[in-house]
Amino acid sequence: GPRLRGCCWTFAILAMLLAMVLAAPHDGDHMGHTPEHFHHLHHSPEEVHSHTGNESILKLSPPNANFAFALYKRLSAKAAASQNIFYSPLGISTALSMLAAGAAGDTHSQLFSTLGYSGEQLTQAQVDESYEHLIHVLGHNQKIQQLELGNALAVRKEFKPMVKFVSDIKHYFAGETFEVDFSNAADAVAKINEYIAAKTADKIKDQVKELDPDTAMVLINYVFFRGTWDKTFDPAHTSKKDFQVDATTKVEVDMMKRTGRYEFYQDQDNHTTVIMLPYQGDTSMMIVLPDEGKMQEVEGYISSDYIKHWHDSLFRSSVDLSLPKFSISTETSLGDVLKEMGVTKAFADDADFSGMFDETRVKVSKVSHKAVLSVDEKGTEAAASTTIEIMPMSLPDTMELNRPFLVLIVESSTKSILFMGRISDPTAA
Ligand SMILES: *[C@@H]1O[C@H](CO)[C@@H](O)[C@H](O)[C@H]1NC(C)=O
Ligand SMILES: *[C@@H]1O[C@H](CO)[C@@H](O)[C@H](O)[C@H]1NC(C)=O
Repeated sequence: GPRLRGCCWTFAILAMLLAMVLAAPHDGDHMGHTPEHFHHLHHSPEEVHSHTGNESILKLSPPNANFAFALYKRLSAKAAASQNIFYSPLGISTALSMLAAGAAGDTHSQLFSTLGYSGEQLTQAQVDESYEHLIHVLGHNQKIQQLELGNALAVRKEFKPMVKFVSDIKHYFAGETFEVDFSNAADAVAKINEYIAAKTADKIKDQVKELDPDTAMVLINYVFFRGTWDKTFDPAHTSKKDFQVDATTKVEVDMMKRTGRYEFYQDQDNHTTVIMLPYQGDTSMMIVLPDEGKMQEVEGYISSDYIKHWHDSLFRSSVDLSLPKFSISTETSLGDVLKEMGVTKAFADDADFSGMFDETRVKVSKVSHKAVLSVDEKGTEAAASTTIEIMPMSLPDTMELNRPFLVLIVESSTKSILFMGRISDPTAA
C-alpha cells in the first residue's frame, strides 16, 4: 500500500491548454463589422445578456481578466526578455475554482481572494453556476470554431473523494472522474498523459513528467482552440524576414503578409499599436505591438483598463500587416507564482480541503501549465478560393510584427481571455 508522508497526502493540479490556429478558405470580407463587432471585456450585464441568455457568466469576466493580467506581471518578472510567455488565463482560473470547490476556511478564502472573486462578493455557489454556463456557452458554435474547455479528476484507486465534491465537479465543471493507480507511478503518468493527449488532439502529449507514488488525486483542466482566420493570408505572400528578438539577437522568420481592412489603433501616448484579427465565430486574436524598446513599459501598465481603452479606440482602416508564422510551446510551474499572489495555505501542512476528502488530509504539491500556440496562413484549400476586397483609395497603415509583441485570444460572448502571452522569439520551439 502507499506510504503516508507527514500528515498530508499530496495532489497536483494540471492546467494545460492548446491553442491551434489554422486558417481556411473564406469567401469575402465582412465589411459590415464595426468596432462594436468585438465586444470588449467590460460590458454591462444588460448588453451581454442578449448574447448569452444568462448573465451569471458575466460575473466571472472582470475578476478573471484582472487575474489574467496580475498573473502576466508575475510571469514576465520571472522570464528573460527573450523568452516566450503563453498560458490560458481561463484554464488556470477554472482549475483553481475547482480546487476552491473542495477547500474551506483560509484555504478557500485565499483562493477566492487571489482569483478576485471575494472582491466581487461572489460565493462558491455563484462561481460554480457561472462556470456551468460559461462552459456551456463556450461549447457552442463548434461548426465554425473548435473551442473545448474541460476538466477531470484522476483519483487514487483506494481513495474516495466526497460525493458532493465529485458531483459538483461533474455538474458545474463538466468534469469527468477516472481511477488511477498512483502506486505504480509510471502507469499513472502514462494514463494521465493519454487522457490529456486525447482531449487536445495530441497537441499536448507529455504534460506530466513524473508523479509521486503518494499522490491522492490530480485535477486536470484543458482548453483546446482551433480557429480559422476570418481573412486568411495568402501563402504566396509569405517570405523570409528578420525578427529582432532583442538588441543583440536577430532570427529569421516566415513572415506572412496581407493588406486588408482591420480594426486598428495606434496609441502614440502609450507607445503601442493594437490590431484585432478575428476568427470565424466569436473569437479574435488581439495583438499589441509596443514601439521599439517599449515592451517593458507596456508590460508594466497593461490591464483591463488599457484593453478597454484600446477596444473603444479601434476603428477599421486598411492595414499592410506583416505577421510571423510560428509555433511555440511553454511549460510553466505555477506553484511559486500562486504563493506570491497569496495562495499559500493550499500548499501548507494545515491546508483545509475538507470539502474534498473527509477522512484524509491533503494539500497541493504542484501546479503545472503547458501551452502551445501555432499561427499560420494555412492553406491547403484556401489557395483555391478567391477573395475580393473593396479598399478605400488611401494609403494603408503598416504594421510589421518584426519585434516582440503581446497576444490575447479573446472570446466575445463570454468576455473570456482564453489565452494570453508574449511572443519574444517566434523561432523558439
Ligand atoms: C441563469 O442560470 C441560473 C442557474 O442555472 C438560473 O437560475 C437562471 O434562471 C438563469 N438565467 C437566465 C436568464 O437564463
Ligand atoms: C493612453 O492610455 C490611457 C489609459 O488607458 C488613455 O487614457 C489615453 O487616452 C491613452 N492615449 C492614447 C493616445 O490613446
